[in-house]
Amino acid sequence: MPELGVNIDHVATIRQARRTIEPDPVWAAALAELGGADGITLHLREDRRHIQDRDLRVLRETVQVKLNLEMAAEDEITEIAIAVKPDQVTLVPEKREEVTTEGGLDVVGQLARVKACIDRLTDAGIAVSLFVDPDARQVEAARNLGVEGVELHTGRYADATTEAERDREFEAIVAAGEVAVAEKLKFHLGHGLTYRNVQRVARIPGVCELNIGHSIVARAVMVGFERAVREMKALIVG
Ligand code: PXP
Repeated sequence: MPELGVNIDHVATIRQARRTIEPDPVWAAALAELGGADGITLHLREDRRHIQDRDLRVLRETVQVKLNLEMAAEDEITEIAIAVKPDQVTLVPEKREEVTTEGGLDVVGQLARVKACIDRLTDAGIAVSLFVDPDARQVEAARNLGVEGVELHTGRYADATTEAERDREFEAIVAAGEVAVAEKLKFHLGHGLTYRNVQRVARIPGVCELNIGHSIVARAVMVGFERAVREMKALIVG
């Protein structure tokens, strides 16, 4: 049974829309733990569009399950990771103009830069996973870099518009997962997973961890909305 890593970035996105103090991703992490999350995932982006440095520092102190930091292989963020020591780092590509992480890390094309970052994190005692496309070459390149695991990008599976396309993308994930298992890498999945598409990938043999954010935050807004309005109305009506 794979573990669930709950990505709380978009709780911080709502807070940053007003540059205020609520909703606090630290509270969301505590509630996620109460709900059974096996891990808390957050992405400290270079542009700090959602998660802030303070969030990472406080979460390091409060989170009792696995703390997984997504980050680009850049010096500034690497220094922060080494100082804060999350349990796991997932290295992702990052472009300023993107709305979300668009593709996997091109390990094959950026070997030296990624390797230097991995070595520094590993020396600091942090487990490293690489977010890659479900492609055997990327998984093999990750193995050669000595990381503990890979997170296979499920975005194309999630975005498929026909059954045939979804089946093809599913098979690509299964095949890349088999390579990861054969190479003795932990194999995680993430991106675009929802209440509708998660079950099929959760049952892929060998998958250890699913990282899910947007869909959980979206549902939380909806399932909590009516109660939030009732509580405000009760204050007004008295
Ligand atoms: N895994 C990685 C590596 C990601 O970059 C993201 C998005 O931050 C996720 C998982 C979660 O994706 P989603 O928000 O679509 O569930």
